[in-house]
Amino acid sequence: MTEVVTGVSGVTRHSGVQPPWALLAELSHGCPLHCAYCSNPTELVGRSEELTTAQWAGVFRQAADLGVVQSHLSGGEPLLRRDLTGIVAAADGAGIHTQLVTSGVGLHEKRLAALTAAGLRSVQLSVQHADPRASELIAGARSFAAKERAARLVREAELPLGLNVVLHRANLDALDDLVELGLAWGAERIELANTQFYGWALRNREALMPDREQIARAREGVERWRGRLAGRMELVWVVPDYIDGTAKPCMGGWGALSLTVAPDGTVYPCPAAAALPGLDAPNVKDHRLEWIWRESKTFNLYRGEEWMGDPCRGCELRTKDFGGCRCQAYALTGDATRTDPACHLSPDHALVRDLVDRPRLPEPMAAPAYAYRKEGP
Ligand code: SF4
Ligand code: FES
Repeated sequence: MTEVVTGVSGVTRHSGVQPPWALLAELSHGCPLHCAYCSNPTELVGRSEELTTAQWAGVFRQAADLGVVQSHLSGGEPLLRRDLTGIVAAADGAGIHTQLVTSGVGLHEKRLAALTAAGLRSVQLSVQHADPRASELIAGARSFAAKERAARLVREAELPLGLNVVLHRANLDALDDLVELGLAWGAERIELANTQFYGWALRNREALMPDREQIARAREGVERWRGRLAGRMELVWVVPDYIDGTAKPCMGGWGALSLTVAPDGTVYPCPAAAALPGLDAPNVKDHRLEWIWRESKTFNLYRGEEWMGDPCRGCELRTKDFGGCRCQAYALTGDATRTDPACHLSPDHALVRDLVDRPRLPEPMAAPAYAYRKEGP
């Protein structure tokens, strides 16, 4: 049970806050790919501002003390960090399970051997499409062959391999090919993540937005494949909240399960929160992670239910979806305290519904006008 206490700043603090279990470590915003759906903030952190190896080691020690058991080493592209082996060793030494989240570009045999020896436990490889040309059009960079090689190396190293496919207008109809690709590459799991519209994805929303028929076909395909795969490979379907008209339980609730550490050490309750105004996000260089998690204004701002207005306040689903996503509410309405417009009960739902139901050109892949993500700072 969470007891509510009002602090001196007027922000509600919650005593008895449960510890986080996962940490997303954005090691670098640099990336050799330029994916149009990238959820990194449009203002990227510069390479010179990145935390050092020793600072990351301190983050993992504090995270472990706080209760974190799982870390996703991500970016951008974490392989751009020359000290990645040291970072993995530090996380593993702190007792935290490490998963590398990578484009595969820059993963070579010797490097993977060093990472595995340092304690790396699993790899999640991003895949844009099963067709090399279509894949590179979405990524904005030559990368398919590197991904194929990375998948082979990971399997040879006997590490669990997962694929992450961000789904959108240009690849939803290739669902069967993507599953076949996962089988051919030896993946144990494919995360089929319908695009979440933050950062660069929000900027590219027009080009990425699927139509209802595409989603319905893909959903049927997932069910069909699940029956056929029967334990050989797991398919995870991340819901398309715009299309479903339901708010997603974003991050399992604000400040409830996990935290995100940006490349410069700023700590956020979610990867998209850098875009929220007035957040005053704390940094590991100035504060201990425990204080950040339990006491900081940032992590208490939308924790629990006290911040909710109508219709969430009186809605039975508020304990399940936590009122949806604060970043999406802000991005679409300019007010992070409003009900997520993805919810059909939101007074702002027309913002989403009208966008989904607008007549579209019939050829999704004809000429996607992507604003590609910058290479990196
Ligand atoms: Fe969830 Fe709020 Fe919508 Fe209810 S009104 S379903 S709590 S987002
Ligand atoms: Fe920030 Fe949903 S992405 S709360």
